Amino acid sequence: MDTSIKDFTSKLPQLPTSIFTKMTQLAKQYDAINISQGFPNFEPDPVLLELVSKALKSGHNQYAPMGGIYSLREIISEKIKNLYGKSYDPSSEITITVGATQAIYTAISAFVWPGDEVVVLKPAYDCYEPSIMANGGKPILVQMTGKDYKIDWEEFKNHINDKTRMVIINTPHNPSGKVFSKEDMVQLQNCLKNTNVILLSDEVYEHIVFDGFAHESVSKYPDLASRSFVCASFGKTFHATGWKMGYCAAPFELMKEFLKIHEFNVFCVNHPFQKALATYLKTPEHYLSLGGFYQEKRDLLLNALGNSRFRFTPSNGTYFQLLDYSAISEESDTSFAERLVKEHHLACIPISVFNKDQIDHKQIRVCFAKTEETLLRASEILCIM
Ligand SMILES: Cc1ncc(COP(=O)(O)O)c(C=O)c1O
Repeated sequence: MDTSIKDFTSKLPQLPTSIFTKMTQLAKQYDAINISQGFPNFEPDPVLLELVSKALKSGHNQYAPMGGIYSLREIISEKIKNLYGKSYDPSSEITITVGATQAIYTAISAFVWPGDEVVVLKPAYDCYEPSIMANGGKPILVQMTGKDYKIDWEEFKNHINDKTRMVIINTPHNPSGKVFSKEDMVQLQNCLKNTNVILLSDEVYEHIVFDGFAHESVSKYPDLASRSFVCASFGKTFHATGWKMGYCAAPFELMKEFLKIHEFNVFCVNHPFQKALATYLKTPEHYLSLGGFYQEKRDLLLNALGNSRFRFTPSNGTYFQLLDYSAISEESDTSFAERLVKEHHLACIPISVFNKDQIDHKQIRVCFAKTEETLLRASEILCIM
């Protein structure tokens, strides 16, 4: 007898298998070089690993305080103050989370009610829309324009109304590599003026900016910071995506609501890793050197692609690079990416999956958080296309 329960309604009935899962499966199946998913194929700093190991062996293996250990929240607060000039109270305005993903989900869950609208700029990282929908909210998608993903702030503003509960931005931006400018932030500030809209700012690539660009954190803009959750990721910053460690910062009144969900969802986050990070963050060089480190990798890749038929504008931030293959093929980007992995053993991500209505600009995204050897092998393949 079949005893499985079938009489229920899925909260997310339309959710397809994520492109990251699909490409990673194909990469395994076709024994391909995988430059699709956003994680490094090299190890974190041995100093950090040693700090974790020490914390594991010195009695930090029970529950941490709910919002995170004080020393870690304190050093994060100092970091934000030094970089962006904004003071967050470590004890009530910073929470350590299970990666940025949990911070994003929890902020949405704490504030989005059924029927609320949440404006999302597309192309967008894939966790925003399901998190909004699982909480009964309605994602309102605003496509960034053209192949270089400019933001039409007039159009953006036209989507803000009485039903808008939240707006989500991401800078530096995955997948485009765009870094929001001061002008973008001022425009955003104007769009949200005199509204009750909460801003969720995904800044997981805050330290990965190139060519003298500056990261424009919302915490630099008092009128934005007062309505914002700023989400960050130690996984991205310290080459340790598997640790799922991150944090978010927000004004007290917003964080108070966030913690009500956090307490009964996660309660607290991995204690020994928090200990290690609290010490490691005392040396700002550990995160300030990241831009230069990844810029070298970007340049290595782009120099190696100099004679290829791909067209590109160097990424300004993140560890992703867009490549335009329109001079090579008229295939859809998903077909092109599938052919690349099946016939040439190289896995990448087609950009249409991030776009509104799957707009296809004939672009793929590659991740250059890889060793020199991987980047050179990948570019050899790309050069024969
Ligand atoms: C824009 C963006 N936000 C959030 C995340 C997830 O961060 P974490 O691994 O810390 O949850 C990613 C991971 O790829 C990302 O690209």
